[in-house]
Amino acid sequence: MKTILIMNGPNLSMLGKRDPKHYGSGTLADLENACINKGIELGVKVVCFQSESESALIRKLHTSMGVVDGIVLNAGAYTHYSIAIRDAIELIKIPVVEVHLSDIHNREDFRNRSVIEAVCVEQISGLGVKSYLVAMEKLVDKYMKDTTTTEELKAEEKAGPEALLAEERLAVDQLNKELLVLFERRMKHVERIAKIKMEMGKETYVPAREQEILEQAGNGVEKQYADLAQDFMKEIMRLSKERQTRLRNETHEE
Ligand code: DQA
Repeated sequence: MKTILIMNGPNLSMLGKRDPKHYGSGTLADLENACINKGIELGVKVVCFQSESESALIRKLHTSMGVVDGIVLNAGAYTHYSIAIRDAIELIKIPVVEVHLSDIHNREDFRNRSVIEAVCVEQISGLGVKSYLVAMEKLVDKYMKDTTTTEELKAEEKAGPEALLAEERLAVDQLNKELLVLFERRMKHVERIAKIKMEMGKETYVPAREQEILEQAGNGVEKQYADLAQDFMKEIMRLSKERQTRLRNETHEE
C-alpha cells in the first residue's frame, strides 16, 4: 500500500483559533481526520506530521525518503521565504503537492509569492480542507503511479533494516495520533458525564463503573495483553478522574 504524508507547518496547530474567514473553524485534528478518511477511500496509508519548526519540517522531509510515496505540504508562512525547505523538497525526489487553506493569491502581497512552488508538482490554494483532499487525489492519480513503495521493495527483499525501521516508526506515529484523537474525544464525554452528574447532585466517581471498564479492557484484547490493557485503562481513568475533580472544584469556586 502506498503512503501519503500530510505535513503542516507553523501555526496550523492553531486551526480553530485562527481567522475563520481564511482558515475555517475546524481544528488540525479535524483536518487530519478528513485526510485519513480520504486515504481510506483512495486505498492509501496516511501519516500526519505538524511542526512549528523549520528544522523539524526539513528533517521530516529527509527521513521520508524511501518511506513515503507522496507528500501534501502546507508549509504555512515558510512557504513565502524558506529556501531551506525548498532545497529539502528538491533533494528528496518525492512528489510534493503544495497546499494552502486560504487563497494566497488574493490576500496580502507578501503571500502571493511561494518559494517552494517551483519544486512542487502542483500548488492548490483556497479550497480550505478540500485543498488537501484534492492534493491527495492528484498524488494518487498522477504522481504516485511510478513510485516504488517501501512495501513493494520489501516484497522484493531489497529494503534494508533502516527502511523497515522507519516504516514501523511511521506506523507507530500514525497510531499515536489516532490514540490522541480518541483520548480527546473520550475526555469530552468524561467532562459531559461530570457536568450531568453535578447537576443531578451525584458523585462523579463510581468504583463499580471503574471495575466494569477494567473488565472490558481485559476482555477486549488478546489474552497475553490483558494485564497491559488494564494498566493502560487504569491510567486513562486516573486522568479522567483528575479532570472530573478539577471540573468539580472549578464549578464550586464560581
Ligand atoms: C497558509 C497561508 C500562509 O500564508 C499562512 O502563513 C499560513 C497558512 C494557508 O493554509 O492558507 O499559515 O499556508
